[in-house]
Amino acid sequence: MPLADVLHDVLGYKSVKQSCSTGICGACTIRINGEARKSCLHMAGQAADSNISTVEGLSKNGSMSPLQEAFIDNFSFQCGFCTPGFLMSAAALLDENSAPSEEEIRDSLHGNICRCTGYLSIIDGVKDAAKRITEGGN
Ligand code: FES
Ligand code: FES
Repeated sequence: MPLADVLHDVLGYKSVKQSCSTGICGACTIRINGEARKSCLHMAGQAADSNISTVEGLSKNGSMSPLQEAFIDNFSFQCGFCTPGFLMSAAALLDENSAPSEEEIRDSLHGNICRCTGYLSIIDGVKDAAKRITEGGN
């Protein structure tokens, strides 16, 4: 089975969305061993020994991460279907580079498609998250 199906349908991680199921839209993006990956393209068996994280793992002790809070405050989503994928791509970027340039943000999100926001508010959300992380030491 595709990893996206196992995570969503079998294990109940409802943040893992599927739209295209062909690696184009990024809605199913999760992190595998820290890297942002499209879970519709991975077979579950291939990921058996991997460290996998989804949006459900972003919050700590019941509190949202600075990235999640920044997405809310910057209106970085409308319908929200694409949002988990964007969050996981952005989280992978910010773990590697806590002060990315706009070009680096755009590059890290190039595999994620949003039909609602026009992208600028998403980029603003990632910029704001970087600021919060840098200033807050998270
Ligand atoms: S559902 Fe995986 S990339 Fe679109
Ligand atoms: S917020 Fe609707 S698809 Fe991105």
